[in-house]
Amino acid sequence: MRISILGCGYVGLVTGACFAEMGHDVVCTDNDVSKIDMLNRGELPIYELNLDEIVARSRSTGRLVFTADLGEAVRFGEAIFICVGTPPMQDGDADLSSIDSAARLIASEARSSKLVVEKSTVPMQTGQKLKRALAIYARNSGNSFSVASNPEFLREGTAVEDFLHPDRIVIGVGDGHTETMLREIYRPLVEQSINCPVHQGSCPAKEPPRLLVTSINSAELIKHASNCFLAVKISYANLIADICENMGADVEEVVEAIGMDARIGPQFLRPGLGFGGFCLPKDVQAFIRLGERAGADVALLKDAENINKKRIDNFLAKARHALWVLKDKRIGVLGLAFKPGTDDIRFAPATELIGRLLQERAHVQAHDPQAMERTRTVFPDIRYCDDPHQVAENAEALMIVTEWPEYKALDWQRIRDSMLRPLILDGRNLLDGEEMVTMGFEYQGIGKAVNEPLQANSVKSN
Ligand code: UGA
Repeated sequence: MRISILGCGYVGLVTGACFAEMGHDVVCTDNDVSKIDMLNRGELPIYELNLDEIVARSRSTGRLVFTADLGEAVRFGEAIFICVGTPPMQDGDADLSSIDSAARLIASEARSSKLVVEKSTVPMQTGQKLKRALAIYARNSGNSFSVASNPEFLREGTAVEDFLHPDRIVIGVGDGHTETMLREIYRPLVEQSINCPVHQGSCPAKEPPRLLVTSINSAELIKHASNCFLAVKISYANLIADICENMGADVEEVVEAIGMDARIGPQFLRPGLGFGGFCLPKDVQAFIRLGERAGADVALLKDAENINKKRIDNFLAKARHALWVLKDKRIGVLGLAFKPGTDDIRFAPATELIGRLLQERAHVQAHDPQAMERTRTVFPDIRYCDDPHQVAENAEALMIVTEWPEYKALDWQRIRDSMLRPLILDGRNLLDGEEMVTMGFEYQGIGKAVNEPLQANSVKSN
C-alpha cells in the first residue's frame, strides 16, 4: 500500500521505516526542512537501535522516500499517518496544534479521498475533532476523509523491535473499509511473514500479535491508559523502595517476588530515579486533565506523578546526607539520557538532577554513551568526559543516573582510586552493592538499607 507519514520524529521514522520493511511504499515528510535534508544525506536525527540499517536499506530500494514537499507527501498515500508531536502545554493538556495543522495540510493538498490515521498520542475524542476539522477544511474539495486511531506502544531504544514484534495492534475505526485497509497494512506482522531485520531469521518464539478492532475513542484511551498504568506501576515500585530503605528491607528481593505473580508481572517494577522521557510524564499530565474533564477521581494519577517528582529530591537528600554541603564538591554523573538505548534527554531525570546540583554550586562532570551532545545544549558549562572513567576523577561522589549496561563493565578499581571519596550513589541499582563495598566503595542504592557509615580512611587526602 502507499503510505504517507507526516512527522519525522522517532515515531514517524520508526513507523515509516518499518512499514517499508513490511513491503509498503512510504513517503515521509516533516515541516523541519533541515531534518529532511539530514535524512536525505543518509543521517538520522535520533539514535535508535536498528533504525539506521532499515532506513538505509529501504531508501536504497526506493521504498522509503523523504521529501520536504508536504503536498507531494500528502498526495502520495492512500493512508496518511499523522506522527507529529503533541507536547504538554503549561496546564498539562496536550498541545494539539500540530494535529490541527496536519488536518489543514491534508485537506488543502489532497486531490483524492484518504484514510487519515492518528499515530501520535492524543487525548480521547481527538479523532472526532480531527474528522470534523478535515471535513470543514476540505468542504469545497469534493474529497472525503475517513479517520482511524492506531496508537503505538513503542519504547525508545527498542522501537524497531517493538514495532515488528508487537504484543497487540490496536486499530480504532468507524467503518468497515477503514478496518480492511488497516488490516491489509498490518497483515505482514499478523502473519509474521516479514524478514525480521532485528533478529535475522532467529526471532524469539512469540505468539502472533492480536489485532484488536475498537472504536476510535477506545483506541485513543487504550494508549493513554496503558502509559499511565506503567507510570503508576513504576511509582508503586518507588513507594516500596522508600519503605524498604527506611525500614530495612531490600526492594529488589521484594519486587522480584511481587513480579512473579502472573497477575502483576515483573516489568516496570524497577525502582530508581523515576520515569522520564517524552511519553510517560506528559501522558500522565494529559490523562489527569482528561480524567478531570470526565468527572473522574484522578487522585491515583496525581499521587503517581507526585511520587515521581520527589525521586530527585530524595536522591539529593541522600547526597546531602553523605556529603553535608554540595557547594564546591565535584560530582560525577554517569548517564544523561532518560533511559539506556537512546540519546533522548526530554524530561530526563539527569537533566533535573544536574540543574539542581548546579543550583547548589556543585561541580558536575558527566558521561553518556549517546546523549552528551544534546545535554551540552542545556548545560554548556559542565565537564563532559569522553571516557566514563573520567567522571570519577577527584570526585567526592559518583551518581549513576541512567543504567547503561556498559557501565557495569567499567574498571571500578581504577574508578575507586581516582575518586577523592569513593562514594557511589546508584540511582538505578545498576551495580552489585556488596561487591562495591568489598572493593572499598561506600555504596548506596535505591530501596536498600544504607551501607556502613563513612569510614575515616575512605576519604583520600589530596
Ligand atoms: C513509553 C512506553 O513504555 C511505550 O509503550 C509507549 O509507546 C511510549 O512510552 C510512547 O508513548 O511513545 P518510553 O517513553 O520509550 O516508552 O520509555 P519506557 O521504557 O516506558 O521508560 C520510561 C521511563 O520509565 C524511563 O525513564 C525509565 O527509566 C523509567 N522506568 C521504566 C523505571 O524507572 N522503572 C521501570 O521499571 C521501567
